[in-house]
Amino acid sequence: MDIIDFHTHILPEIDDGSQSTQESVQLLKMLTEQNVKTVVATPHFHPAAEHLDMFLQRRNEAYNRLIKRSLKYSPRILLGAEVEYYDDICCDIDGLKALCIEGTNVLLIEMPNAKWSEKMTDDILCIAESGEITVVLAHIERYISKQSNKTIKQLLDSGVLMQVNATFFTSVFTKGRALSMLQNGTVHLVGSDCHGISRRPPYIKKAYEIIEKKNGADAVNKLISFSNSLIN
Ligand SMILES: [Fe+2]
Repeated sequence: MDIIDFHTHILPEIDDGSQSTQESVQLLKMLTEQNVKTVVATPHFHPAAEHLDMFLQRRNEAYNRLIKRSLKYSPRILLGAEVEYYDDICCDIDGLKALCIEGTNVLLIEMPNAKWSEKMTDDILCIAESGEITVVLAHIERYISKQSNKTIKQLLDSGVLMQVNATFFTSVFTKGRALSMLQNGTVHLVGSDCHGISRRPPYIKKAYEIIEKKNGADAVNKLISFSNSLIN
């Protein structure tokens, strides 16, 4: 089965990720060497700072600059976004659909790194319960400990998916927590959240190796198969 990197900043010069087309090409090569067959490009979208149309235009331009290069080593690239949570995000389902991963109704949302208000949680539940969009919360490990168990359960019960970064599994400090979250069903997707070849490079293969070693090959197959079911 194909490894999918669900969260990356591989597009050149669009956010704080890859700073040049050359760096993007090198990142794609690194991902290919890690057996990644599909990369979801998820540049940051800050709705308070930029109009949606402008973001989509910049994203297309960055993508076109990248694919103009002869990509000898490249996984398939799907366009998406890492959408920063904003107030009343749930009132804009049509706009959000334009930000879903290409060909899907799957949307990656970055929540504030603080305890969420009831309103924030309700906004996310509202999107999830619309039945029109599948919400994925980006790098949940950053803020899950700041939320109540009740909040997390509500989100999970409503079908909200949780993405974690590969480094959550590869760091000796967080590996144990990552593996237990995976076992108890709080982790659905893994992404490298890579930003550059030396600054936050991709460690997705290493993460899957750790999962296989500790939780078994079935755990890896289950993760990979689930991620494939979302985008294929
Ligand atoms: Fe990110």
